[in-house]
Amino acid sequence: MHIPVLLNEVLALLAPAPGEVYADGTAGLGGHAAAVGRAMGSGAVVLADLDPGNLAHAAAHVQQQTPAVRVVQAPGNFAAMPYALAQHGLRANMVLADLGFASTQVDDPNRGLSFSREGPLDMRLDPRGPLTAAQIVASWPEADLERIIRDFGEDRLARLIARRINQARGRGPITTTTQLADICRAAYASAGNRERTIDPATRTFQALRIAVNDELGNLSALLDAVVDAAHGRATAPPWLAPGCRVAIISFHSLEDRLVKQAMGGLVAAGRADDLTPEIVRSSEAEQSSNPRSRSAKLRAVRLR
Ligand SMILES: C[S@@+](CC[C@H](N)C(=O)[O-])C[C@H]1O[C@@H](n2cnc3c(N)ncnc32)[C@H](O)[C@@H]1O
Repeated sequence: MHIPVLLNEVLALLAPAPGEVYADGTAGLGGHAAAVGRAMGSGAVVLADLDPGNLAHAAAHVQQQTPAVRVVQAPGNFAAMPYALAQHGLRANMVLADLGFASTQVDDPNRGLSFSREGPLDMRLDPRGPLTAAQIVASWPEADLERIIRDFGEDRLARLIARRINQARGRGPITTTTQLADICRAAYASAGNRERTIDPATRTFQALRIAVNDELGNLSALLDAVVDAAHGRATAPPWLAPGCRVAIISFHSLEDRLVKQAMGGLVAAGRADDLTPEIVRSSEAEQSSNPRSRSAKLRAVRLR
């Protein structure tokens, strides 16, 4: 069964009320959305997801769980949610983004997101996206590979792994997950580095996924849309109602830094109240039942 990350904490912070409008930028399997919909009992749930399969699944699940709630699909990037809401004449009382990937995606070998499953080096959350991991691995300069593995993967062997990728692609194309994972493992072994806690491919795969899906660029665009709405700037359609609660769950320090800066700026400007003066992390019980929740960080504000 799919258990949404930090579900009780999200519900407590968003505090759904009957008749409200909830905008979920990362519908996934619809776990958070169904719970918020149930708590509202009436109103509207707007669902966005880059992955059409997940969006369809989430929409069906939410509608089945909450028949009295209007379910609106906003296919694609959450950065476009202001336009989807405006198109339907809605303003959100709650916004959630639960960043990253869903289990349906990582468990499907054809998506190439998992180093433990043989598959094409794809990694796109949106199957229609313009860039695959194989294209990055084949064509980006070694220095750029090093940069993303260091910055997005936080791998201390970034330079060595980038060099090993560059050498390997000179011998023949790198097209599968296992080929790339083996290059990372060999790099660690050659450095005499025994990675005991995680597979040496973990960080390189994370870096490529973030680059393929422009995850930081998309998050910045969403945060800009929130900040612009809170300041009443006419850069996007008005999409947030006064008093809107905005919650973001991130899994990477670079993501959390962007969220902290944007939300901190709104609070400092007197445009929002900080709902998480203490950043919210998962409990020990949740961490043991759902290992992915270990790196989750939840921040939230309420617009004025
Ligand atoms: C962690 S899952 C969300 C799980 C969801 N909260 C639930 O309870 O089932 C993340 C989802 O966000 C989607 N996603 C990631 N980045 C996105 C973006 N920029 N725009 C829209 N959807 C995105 C992924 O395709 C994935 O389905």
